[in-house]
Amino acid sequence: NKPWTIPGLAAAKQAGQKLAMLTAYDTGFARAFDANGVDLILVGDSLGMVVQGHASTLPVTVDDIVYHTANVARGLSRALLVADLPFQADATSQRALDAATRLLQAGAQMVKLEGAGPHKLEAVRFLVEREIPVCAHLGLTPQSVLRFGGYKVQGREEVAARQLREDAQAVAAAGAQLLVLECVPSPLAAAITGAVSIPTIGIGAGPDCDGQVLVLHDFLGLDSGHRRPRFVKDFLAEGGSVAGAVRAYVAAVHDGSFPDAEHSYA
Ligand code: KIV
Ligand code: NA
Repeated sequence: NKPWTIPGLAAAKQAGQKLAMLTAYDTGFARAFDANGVDLILVGDSLGMVVQGHASTLPVTVDDIVYHTANVARGLSRALLVADLPFQADATSQRALDAATRLLQAGAQMVKLEGAGPHKLEAVRFLVEREIPVCAHLGLTPQSVLRFGGYKVQGREEVAARQLREDAQAVAAAGAQLLVLECVPSPLAAAITGAVSIPTIGIGAGPDCDGQVLVLHDFLGLDSGHRRPRFVKDFLAEGGSVAGAVRAYVAAVHDGSFPDAEHSYA
């Protein structure tokens, strides 16, 4: 039950140990997750939707993520804390460094950024060279919602699948040490997971990723006001209490029983 470290992530993948991640935005849930075996906590810019009530993550600011990161950090003693760089905080490498520095000073141990375009890869290298661990995020990157025209499964066509495989290699080569894959078909996520040495964390990416993440509100079965995506599972219904839900989720991720085919895209 030692605290997680950045080098521990790659070691877990080597050992075939699955990683259970949840999003959190405040101390109370952070404490409940930490005490019940969650390995990684994400202060996601999903807070724009589930906490602030916006229709996308685009309105979220660095100040918002810093505030929630500081609150979550005070609830943790074992889980590793990742915080999102919100929309355009990674538009230039210098902006990314300024935002990431604030997030680490608020208690994050790693920052996450979406995409693998040229300036994103440059930002990953820029941060890693400056001692800021980076988690990449590919597939359905919600900050790209306007270009995508909605929240849709990514990488279904062969050309897009090849691009995603190349992007995964590129972010790893740039120095990212963790990779979130969101809403990609299970076989593609499995292929990427086999091809990179850094752990992959899936959300709607099938059972073969090295770990899984869910958004807190989805995990508790709260109605988002939108159609519930296929990968969402209400663990509160199964676990009976918040602590029970967390234990059920962690056990199911660790033993590979979540997600099953019903909660994945073929
Ligand atoms: O913001 C968020 O919660 C995320 C996860 C869904 C991966 O980026
Ligand atoms: Na996010």
